Amino acid sequence: MTKPRRPSAPEQVTDRLFATERRPEDFRFDASVARVFPDMIRRSVPGYTTIIPMIEVITEQYAQPGSRCYDLGCSLGASTLAMRHGISQPDCTLIGVDNSSAMIERCEHYIALDDNTLPVTLRCEDLLDTELGNASVTTLNFTLQFVDPDKRAGLLSRIADATLPGGVLILSEKIRFESATEQAIQTRLHHEFKRANGYSDLEISQKRTAIEQVLIPETLAAHKARLLAAGFEQVVVWYQCFNFVSMLAIKADQSTE
Ligand SMILES: C[S@@+](CC[C@H](N)C(=O)[O-])C[C@H]1O[C@@H](n2cnc3c(N)ncnc32)[C@H](O)[C@@H]1O
Repeated sequence: MTKPRRPSAPEQVTDRLFATERRPEDFRFDASVARVFPDMIRRSVPGYTTIIPMIEVITEQYAQPGSRCYDLGCSLGASTLAMRHGISQPDCTLIGVDNSSAMIERCEHYIALDDNTLPVTLRCEDLLDTELGNASVTTLNFTLQFVDPDKRAGLLSRIADATLPGGVLILSEKIRFESATEQAIQTRLHHEFKRANGYSDLEISQKRTAIEQVLIPETLAAHKARLLAAGFEQVVVWYQCFNFVSMLAIKADQSTE
């Protein structure tokens, strides 16, 4: 059976939010960010345009019949739609969560434009309050980095507890490096990526100042150790570009224990 046709990509309004001198204030996922978000994330996150279609591939492999799939921090629904297109098992439910009403309103619009008919429940709430259970695939695509570091272990334990045997968490994050030299090299390459995508030095430095209090990156080793402690059996890094990675945390499959 052929899969339903994909929707056309969300309209790309050029991100010029940091192009002119502005008063420093913390970055927020408000209406002005939601408006330019597809362009902002594509030009700012190396690998984002590869990771999104791979979320579909991974979902296709791990979604289980009769289970729930969650996209926590769904923004405009790019990862939600990838999951929707990847789910081929019967009786799955798909739930997208974001605490930015500006994001959720636009996300509803993009979900409605998509011609895959799997129902999607969107919740405008703090993902720390989201009830989780019977999960086969959960995605945190560049979202955990915005969660209070003290609350991350508890959230990942709740996700692991809610995940069925053989189910997965897809976790994409900006990371930092133990080695100051590697940190400097990867940061420079990330900034070069942004320059190559048309961001000026002023935009790069103002965005960096705005985001550094709210996006707290951790090392790959810290992520892996915490995922294993949370109850996942395997952690596989399936993608890395500069200081951006995506991991697959897999819950033990009882049939292979
Ligand atoms: C970088 S964006 C995620 C991008 C999206 N997953 C994608 O693939 O396009 C991070 C999102 O997480 C949301 N977010 C951050 N902290 C949250 C929280 N505690 N609860 C719910 N959503 C949160 C933000 O509002 C934002 O929309």
